[in-house]
Amino acid sequence: MKTKEIRQKFVDYFVSKGHTHVASSPLVPGNDPTLLFTNAGMVQFKDVFLGQEKRPYNRAVTAQRSLRAGGKHNDLENVGYTARHHTFFEMLGNFSFGDYFKRDAIKYAFELLTVHYGLPKEKLWTTVYHTDDEAFDIWTNEIGIPKERCIRIGDKPGGRKYESDNFWQMADTGPCGPCSEIFYDHGPGVAGGPPGSPDQDGDRYIEIWNLVFMQFNRDESGALNPLPKPSVDTGMGLERLTAVLQHVHSNYEIDLFQSLVKAAARETGMKDLALPSLRVIADHIRACAFLVVDGVIPGNEGRGYVLRRIARRAMRHGYKLGRKQPFFYKLVADLVKEMGEAYPELAKAEAKVIATLKQEEERFGETLENGMAMLDTALAKDAKHLDGDTAFKLYDTYGFPVDLTADIGRERGFEIDMKAFDAAMTAQQERSRAASKFKQGAALDYKGAKTAFRGYESMSEEGRVVALYRNGSGVERLSQGEEGIVVLDRTPFYAESGGQVGDRGELTKGGACLTLFQVQDTQKIQPEVFGHHGVVTTGELAVGDTLAANVDLDKRARTMRHHSVTHLMHKALREVLGYHVQQKGSLVDEDKTRFDFSHNQPMTADEIRRVEGLVNAEILKNEATTAEVMPIDEAQKSGAMMLFGEKYGDEVRVLGIGSSRELCGGTHVARTGDIGLFRIVSEGGVAAGIRRVEAVAGTVAVQLSQQDRERVAHVAEALKSQPQEIELKLAQVMESVKVLEKELAKLKGKMASSQGDSLADSAVDVKGVKVLAVKLDGADVKTLRDTLDQLKNKLKSSAIVLAASEGEKVSLIAGVTQDLIAKVKAGELVNFVATQVGGKGGGRPDMAQAGGTNPAALPAALESVRDWVEQRL
Ligand code: ALA
Repeated sequence: MKTKEIRQKFVDYFVSKGHTHVASSPLVPGNDPTLLFTNAGMVQFKDVFLGQEKRPYNRAVTAQRSLRAGGKHNDLENVGYTARHHTFFEMLGNFSFGDYFKRDAIKYAFELLTVHYGLPKEKLWTTVYHTDDEAFDIWTNEIGIPKERCIRIGDKPGGRKYESDNFWQMADTGPCGPCSEIFYDHGPGVAGGPPGSPDQDGDRYIEIWNLVFMQFNRDESGALNPLPKPSVDTGMGLERLTAVLQHVHSNYEIDLFQSLVKAAARETGMKDLALPSLRVIADHIRACAFLVVDGVIPGNEGRGYVLRRIARRAMRHGYKLGRKQPFFYKLVADLVKEMGEAYPELAKAEAKVIATLKQEEERFGETLENGMAMLDTALAKDAKHLDGDTAFKLYDTYGFPVDLTADIGRERGFEIDMKAFDAAMTAQQERSRAASKFKQGAALDYKGAKTAFRGYESMSEEGRVVALYRNGSGVERLSQGEEGIVVLDRTPFYAESGGQVGDRGELTKGGACLTLFQVQDTQKIQPEVFGHHGVVTTGELAVGDTLAANVDLDKRARTMRHHSVTHLMHKALREVLGYHVQQKGSLVDEDKTRFDFSHNQPMTADEIRRVEGLVNAEILKNEATTAEVMPIDEAQKSGAMMLFGEKYGDEVRVLGIGSSRELCGGTHVARTGDIGLFRIVSEGGVAAGIRRVEAVAGTVAVQLSQQDRERVAHVAEALKSQPQEIELKLAQVMESVKVLEKELAKLKGKMASSQGDSLADSAVDVKGVKVLAVKLDGADVKTLRDTLDQLKNKLKSSAIVLAASEGEKVSLIAGVTQDLIAKVKAGELVNFVATQVGGKGGGRPDMAQAGGTNPAALPAALESVRDWVEQRL
């Protein structure tokens, strides 16, 4: 059987058991930050197991492309050196979402392996988690695996509870549960002991299938919380299973890999197909091609770096075989030939994959040879150790990922001084951090006076240029087009602090704007020295120039509203939620205020409304705000709120906004009425015991209200109602949907049974047995099953085949009454029909299901049932 057929048989078997065939999801998991890559079939169903997502099925079967390189499950370094490690592999799996559990999972697995794939029962060994008596009992008493071949596996010595080969979890958090594994015994000719024995790592007993009984969700604290419903997740490596079925020992000897190994040999001019480098290349082309298919591009971080590491590792193996020109990308066509049919997305992306890998090869090709030469020079001095600096230089200058260097070390028998490598890496990271800070202005060399800040009173001031910086160094001038930082002796620009962002605006010189410097941000370069960051758009600036500094009024006004309203909101939150509320962080800019505070539970809708009410009431009072500088103890006495972790001087600035008193250095509105309207936009948790509110004020709040009104208008239009009546109208619509659903369910039931009645009449009599083979229009699998049961009851002694088709898909079900099963078997009957419509199937002698892909052949296939049954009676 070819790999292709083995994959298909798996899917067909579970489809015949009522599973929905779901396509493989991409290698990059959608929306799951806990996981770098899809590393198992269950990943796309994570939320279904957790009960957070519903699907229209509760049984599924997949052949899932998976990657184990980087993250919890990482096999990269072993690839090529063992018979069974891969970066990329395909996992065959069946899943139950709260439907069947241990018993059926075990029965299906055993039946598929022994009956359909034809593996001898004596060759199978199993394991269960040590306390799982139920699984042990099913294997030994119901399936008949001898007790000595069903091994209980406990927790790892010294590990915590559930740290076991027989307890599976996808990552540090997420769904998990005890598992039962099935092993294949390659026979006494191969070294190794059974699972759980000291020499279990040998090659004789090979795990082929893992049945996970999903029961828990591990949360961030490590605690196990029960899942809403016990479920099943299984995984069988297609490559391993194929090796067993093709009677070869190594996965690399199966048909699919042999084609790729041959392609690698062709491109590198090799004859010996057992060369490890060819295997590495064959493995890596699959990983790299599918990563590109799934949107990853080679890069220096995250997923892109994993792709780069795998691709460069393959290229280096080609280089080792003497291939100095790009070759790796030429294997893409061979891969498409092998896997393009099962994965149409691969065939579709062929050109993109080729272009991406070729470019990466060309890029690495520029440095690979020089890097190898440098490595050889270093090894000539000491063949057993590679110093950290050389390893780092290979990484930094020649683009050798350190695991690539380690891979060479494995071949040539040298070790990398990883401590020194890590130290060189850290030093470099610090250098680049310092450099980027430098750019921010935090480390600029400045020895002059403090900046006089005038921005509380005015938005426009004259100031003298006391220092200029370009690329982190002090300069005398900045010319047109140059970016830099300007320090003035005094300025109205507010520099970012206390959660309020820095001002934007412009600096000009000469009446007709002969010089213009656009200020994009204002940051402190020292505690009281303000740097204006930006670019000269016209003319030139020099130290000593006097400039007009004009703050962007609109941006500042919007930011001030958000800052002032934050004080009012802080006070209102304490009044509504309690005085334990304390500010934990804040960000105020022109678009919003984001405020983090200590509180243990989500705010209710009523609490949100009350906070909004209190704040808007203060705004409407339209009182003048005050800012007073006073000694700190006086401020304390006045009841002003002091913030967490802030260091205050002896003199502090106390802001009075409405009834709030708070220490603050920010800029604020003159009267509360200037804030305009206040609205809370969202509320949520950010960490244990910390909530975050985002809110808007002024023009932003007005825009938000307008958007809301438009949204309501759209809904009203869709409901064909007036905006003020949408709730009523929606309730009516929902009610009628409910009534319709009920009616539909009733009708479906009626239809099935009336079809049953009239169908019964069309059964033909063959030697005293009723034979019926028909297609039911529009029926789903459940209707087929229900109708079959009814017909069996009605027709008594009978053999029945029912079919339905939707698009290209044919569903078949066959039933035979008990009195006939000695002669006529439903499993054989359904298979007989299925093979005529491009499918396969089987099942019990009294009931069996199958699928097919060729609806056009269905009428003839149904026609043939009568003769087939007759021959057996
Ligand atoms: N999710 C299980 C595994 O990967 C089946 O082994």
